[in-house]
Amino acid sequence: MKKLLCLVLALVMSLMCVSSLAEGKKVGVSMPTKDLQRWNQDGENMQKLLEEAGYEVDLQFASNDVQQQLNQVTNMINNGCDVIVIAAIEGSSLGSALDLAKEKGIPVIAYDRLLMESDAVSYYATFDNYMVGTKQGTYIKEALDLDNAAGPFALEITAGDPGDNNARYFYQGAIDVLNPYIEAGKLTIKSGQFEFSDVATPTWKTEVAQTRADGILASYYSDGSNIDAWLCSNDSTALGVTNALEANYDGEWPIITGQDCDISNVKNMIAGKQSMSVFKDTRTLAAQVVKMVGQILNGETVDVNDTTTYDNNKIVVPSFLCEPVFADVNNYAELLLDSGYYTADQLQ
Ligand code: BGC
Repeated sequence: MKKLLCLVLALVMSLMCVSSLAEGKKVGVSMPTKDLQRWNQDGENMQKLLEEAGYEVDLQFASNDVQQQLNQVTNMINNGCDVIVIAAIEGSSLGSALDLAKEKGIPVIAYDRLLMESDAVSYYATFDNYMVGTKQGTYIKEALDLDNAAGPFALEITAGDPGDNNARYFYQGAIDVLNPYIEAGKLTIKSGQFEFSDVATPTWKTEVAQTRADGILASYYSDGSNIDAWLCSNDSTALGVTNALEANYDGEWPIITGQDCDISNVKNMIAGKQSMSVFKDTRTLAAQVVKMVGQILNGETVDVNDTTTYDNNKIVVPSFLCEPVFADVNNYAELLLDSGYYTADQLQ
């Protein structure tokens, strides 16, 4: 009994200690936009977990407007935030705010997207971006049985925003898997658009991806020929490609990849319109970042598991990479419903 009491007392004291360390500390969280589902979830999760840990939170969304994000981060610094967490709209555009943070000794954590060209970035927390791409590429390779089938199969590619450092990792991860088959002629790209700069989607917007896909369909597939696979780096671009195909394509429905498990895309997976997505549980990333914030503010060693990959052209930023998970129609219920990420109603 005495032992139990001591244990409870120790637990209560350690909790009091955590919250008293957090007390009076303010954390700024700068998210790129409310337009995409994932950033709303990321922002909400961060806020909830940080507040539960006892921090005051200044959460801002920047409407995908670089200047707005710059102003918001500058205000966070001037308003006394002790740590700032940033998911950048454009990785290289926050230089002056980052310089100011450094001058004032405020640690900055790059969230999901790396902050580029700055030595003021203390840590980076993300999902393994290259692995996201390899999961997409491997899905196409296996679904088309590229090692055994004769082919050739028609492929088109839609990648992400050139201003987002992640976009090249997604692209490269997938291309490293698919390129041998492209070079061997088993995969052909009728549009000829292969280089990252040709297939990128500035702002990651659905409409931008859709317009480019419309153009490709009109120019190269209006003769009724099939597309076998359309590699899309994420769900917002996959949605654009899906919309374009629904409007302007009569051939067999292609394999379409994605990333994020956004609600509209999970619905499309259930309806057989999108083949797969990559699940990046924003709760996992948010929890990791909240842990990092605590470690920084308590002067403890900060958890990282990659100290070589993420060179931002000034420094190699110590990173924590969470593991992305493959999702399709067969495992979405377990991944997304059983874990409480979505309710069944949300996917109706
Ligand atoms: C994120 C993806 C997201 C994309 C568009 C990337 O930086 O890692 O999860 O789909 O931005 O918002």
